[in-house]
Amino acid sequence: MGGCGRIRAVGLIATLATLGASQVGSARAAPALPVAKPVAPALRAVPQGAAVRLSALRSDTAYRDTFEREFDSLTPENALKLAALQPRRGQFDFADADELVDYARRNGKAVHGHALVWGLSLPLWLVDHGATDRLGLRLPPIVLPRLPRALGRLVGNTTTLLTGWRRDELLAVMRGHITTVMRHYAGRVAEWDVVNEPLSNDGTLAPTVWQRFIGPDHIELALRAARAADPKAKLFINEYGVEGPGRKLEGLVRLVSALKARGVPLDGVGLQTHTHILGFHDEATLASTMRRLAAMGLQVQVTEIDVGTSLLGATGVGALDRLTRQADAFGAAARACNAVPACSRFTTWGITDRLSWLGAGESALLFDSKLRAKPAYAAVRSAFAPRRPALAPAVQPRRWRWRPGTGARCGWGSCAGLRAGRR
Ligand code: XIL
Repeated sequence: MGGCGRIRAVGLIATLATLGASQVGSARAAPALPVAKPVAPALRAVPQGAAVRLSALRSDTAYRDTFEREFDSLTPENALKLAALQPRRGQFDFADADELVDYARRNGKAVHGHALVWGLSLPLWLVDHGATDRLGLRLPPIVLPRLPRALGRLVGNTTTLLTGWRRDELLAVMRGHITTVMRHYAGRVAEWDVVNEPLSNDGTLAPTVWQRFIGPDHIELALRAARAADPKAKLFINEYGVEGPGRKLEGLVRLVSALKARGVPLDGVGLQTHTHILGFHDEATLASTMRRLAAMGLQVQVTEIDVGTSLLGATGVGALDRLTRQADAFGAAARACNAVPACSRFTTWGITDRLSWLGAGESALLFDSKLRAKPAYAAVRSAFAPRRPALAPAVQPRRWRWRPGTGARCGWGSCAGLRAGRR
């Protein structure tokens, strides 16, 4: 552009700017309509939780101290998943999960149980049937004639491998898992994600092993089994990508209303809220989703929030800016939760960036890799009333001493095999 053209362009911009300014000016001059001043909702002391890893609790004092000081409840990040609890069919291993749950109780923290029925984090024995199905090899179930035991087992296993699970067989696995686990923790774990991530992005039921081989009623049957196993526990469906409008949220609303209409026991919905600095929902959108679910008579929780910061689209955005945007995202979710009385817990998916499932590079959590509070921490805390001090420990702490020959495994203030208050 020549010098003359540049001057013309500058002139044009100046004219537009003046125009804009005069429009703003005339808008100001218009008679003001009476606008109701929005009343900020009172701050509620909503319990705040974090997903916790047993290995970090055992080995890292600063991690443990931060959890005990900053959070009211704990969601075991992996220890209550099916692969951890039932590594072999019918054989349960509660050692790690017990250690975590007992630790929480000793420190006056609630436990949010996660997760009983999910299409991921499954042991191989549950998955291989689904693999043949995915390859399109699934044949109609074959009813086997009675055969001598060993031969029967061989033929049965081979057939199951080819045909997938029989509905009644997988139903028994699902019910058995829910019943055994919930009875084991009755009185110690007061709320459960009974079904985790039941939906696909288009709002239809996700093709999990449970959906394929039991069918759409696996959700109802899981919830009924859960209520029967521990009638006092609060039962949740937990889902991601349903925090704002879209086909998946509509699918969730359809699913929940159908369950409610049929009298299926369901107490709440968890909004996982895994998000990032370019795609988070604002406070009003989140609050409206929560109110919609609350109107169906449900509790709502933010169950797994983290806010990724390393997106390609954010190149050029400085680290400080990223942390500010992250604080905006966390703050919006926390304020929405505070504003909706049905929102009963706000849980971050981890404590420190160092151990986030997204990797430290995402800087997705409230505390950095050295456990220093980030701007997002202040944004969340200021959205709620100050936290109440921890409840009195359900189990009195005792000072353990390691005694040779007892078989006790002492780690971070408790010793496996010597724990107090085990049921
Ligand atoms: C993740 C854990 O954080 C990882 O450590 C594990 O390897 C895989 O699962 N939604 C859920 C959580 O419901 O259980 C997932 O947790 C994260 C996504």
